[in-house]
Amino acid sequence: MSPVQEGEPLVRVRGLQKHFPLRSGWPWQKRETLRAVDGVSFDLKRGETLGLVGESGCGKSTTARALLRLVEPTAGEIHFDGRDIMEMAPGELRRFRRRAQIVFQDPFSSLNPRMQVGTALAEVLTVHGVAADAAERRQRVRRLLERVELAPHLAERHPHELSGGQRQRVGIARALAVEPELLVLDEPVSALDVPVRRQILGLVRNLQREFGLTCLFIAHDLSVVEKVSDRVAVMYLGRIVELAPAPVIFSRPAHPYTRALLAATPRLESGRRTEARGPVLEGDVPSPVSPPSGCPFHPRCPHPERDDECRLVVPRLEAKGKTWRVACIKVTTSPDARS
Ligand SMILES: Nc1ncnc2c1ncn2[C@@H]1O[C@H](COP(=O)(O)OP(=O)(O)OP(=O)(O)O)[C@@H](O)[C@H]1O
Ligand code: SF4
Ligand SMILES: [Mg+2]
Repeated sequence: MSPVQEGEPLVRVRGLQKHFPLRSGWPWQKRETLRAVDGVSFDLKRGETLGLVGESGCGKSTTARALLRLVEPTAGEIHFDGRDIMEMAPGELRRFRRRAQIVFQDPFSSLNPRMQVGTALAEVLTVHGVAADAAERRQRVRRLLERVELAPHLAERHPHELSGGQRQRVGIARALAVEPELLVLDEPVSALDVPVRRQILGLVRNLQREFGLTCLFIAHDLSVVEKVSDRVAVMYLGRIVELAPAPVIFSRPAHPYTRALLAATPRLESGRRTEARGPVLEGDVPSPVSPPSGCPFHPRCPHPERDDECRLVVPRLEAKGKTWRVACIKVTTSPDARS
């Protein structure tokens, strides 16, 4: 991973909310609201990778999309390099969109199926005015393919002629073409099988080292973010419930949800499960339209001290240690002190 720079973070998110009003069936019915993201705060230091994990539907992609202003947040603040992105004028927003790129789970969504890979990459360079002429574009395309460890002759292939792993490498090359400072990777390996997944994660690690990128790496599986993240944020029903350095999350998780997620996670490297870290997670994620009262995790929480208070009190994401934040009223001691 690249060295993390102290000082002013590249990204600062505070109290981010994205609520979707739902269409009701009948005019007299109350309009309901889906709370996809419900008060998310985090920083991204320069050169840092934050892993964002949680079960399907917990709001990871919506957080990423709001962060890049691909959807308008309902509330909250997002600062990029000290600037409030909600206040950016069109010109500044265009420059921001070049500095902050996203890679999706399905690279097809960002690739034109009728265009050869090399042409598609060259087009990105043209649109953003990155290369001076055709010769420089060709050279840059070659270098981009090299960076994502693809053979130069693949420039002449169409997306459907590539394997899933190769397509994802092209998706990453496309994002890197404009030399971004922030790279958001939204489940970039979820559709790939385990050996290809390992290769792509290895590539991400190389890119972090080489280019000092700042990354938000999204996955629903904790094992995926383990080797690429400096810190990990665990999301549940639109909120972050635990945020800590990656080694801490994997060795001494504090929140009952993180512990349960980890217990259910086969580790990528060994393929073994991390038994006895916590009880198994049961039941489904409740609807973000009518989240449970108090602690949103209480209907599924296996914590032995869960009680009526959990149904009443909404836990805030509080600092419980120097670099550790947890949203659980039953976690009282500093996790740093836990074994
Ligand atoms: N445009 C939209 N309109 C209404 N609801 C939406 C919209 N986009 C997302 N949602 C809802 O917001 C919630 C969070 O969705 P989101 O895609 O952010 O979750 P996720 O954590 O990325 O899930 P996954 O792991 O499946 O990708 C879900 O309940 C989803 O159905
Ligand atoms: S506040 Fe209560 S219900 Fe929520 S995670 Fe902690 S122990 Fe479980
Ligand atoms: Mg998603």
